[in-house]
Amino acid sequence: MRQVPQSDSNPLGIVGDGRVARHLSHYFTLLGIPMRVWSRRTSTDAPVEALAPCRTVLLLIRDSAIEPFVAAWPGLKEHRLVHCSGSLMTSAADCVHPLMTFAPGLYDLETYRRIPFVLDAGGRALDDLLPGVPNPWFTIAPQDRPLYHALCVMAGNFTTLLWRELFTRFEDRFGIPGSAAQPFLAQTAKNLAADASHALTGPLARRDADTIAANLRALDGDRLKDIYAAFVRVYADRT
Ligand SMILES: NC(=O)c1ccc[n+]([C@@H]2O[C@H](COP(=O)([O-])OP(=O)(O)OC[C@H]3O[C@@H](n4cnc5c(N)ncnc54)[C@H](OP(=O)(O)O)[C@@H]3O)[C@@H](O)[C@H]2O)c1
Repeated sequence: MRQVPQSDSNPLGIVGDGRVARHLSHYFTLLGIPMRVWSRRTSTDAPVEALAPCRTVLLLIRDSAIEPFVAAWPGLKEHRLVHCSGSLMTSAADCVHPLMTFAPGLYDLETYRRIPFVLDAGGRALDDLLPGVPNPWFTIAPQDRPLYHALCVMAGNFTTLLWRELFTRFEDRFGIPGSAAQPFLAQTAKNLAADASHALTGPLARRDADTIAANLRALDGDRLKDIYAAFVRVYADRT
């Protein structure tokens, strides 16, 4: 396979214009890394033409589209292909998974710099895959990616769903603005970051069976009851 020769002036290629593409493009701009962006919505050239000068092409598209995209544009294989999926196992591109959540708003340089990237063990180093990106990085066995990603989804996305329920229900049911719970949320995150093993409070931590039973009764007929009961099952004897 012919590789486009490395040179500092080679722009970094980006495919896609979704959440991660917007954030990483912004980060690379802050770092002064030149880029070429191709997206199916806005680009008129074929990706192989638009991205021709790029040594590395970052495929920031939906997970299920990554392999078909490379198959549809075989000329892309002349570039170093990289993807950011946390769970995809593929030989079509190297993985650099940013261990971060990407909201609609952009972040500042320091926030981006602190994002750890998780790469495949036995593969290329971050500086080889994304030259000029100074972030910390770790490796895991490629076959561990689905478990690694499941843990990311549960910790990041599931807690977000629970907090969102609390914010909206406080407002709708009790007339308490969601913002009133912000100090609770901030301190929970702070306690976890400071000492995760002692951060848990509440009835599970106190092994308070009466309060747990009362909480579960209060959730009768509520779709959240199964979630509460599952946490009791999984964590009651492990707190
Ligand atoms: N979101 C996160 O917090 C996060 C965190 C870490 C890693 N990631 C990974 O980052 C990658 C991008 O995710 P995202 O959150 O940025 O997704 P997204 O916001 O849904 O954007 C997906 C992008 O893929 C494009 N796309 C989808 N199918 C395509 C196809 N067949 N051909 C060409 N382009 C196609 C979309 O174009 P259209 O607009 O034209 O559909 C859009 O630009 C994924 O691998 C994801 O697993 C995401």
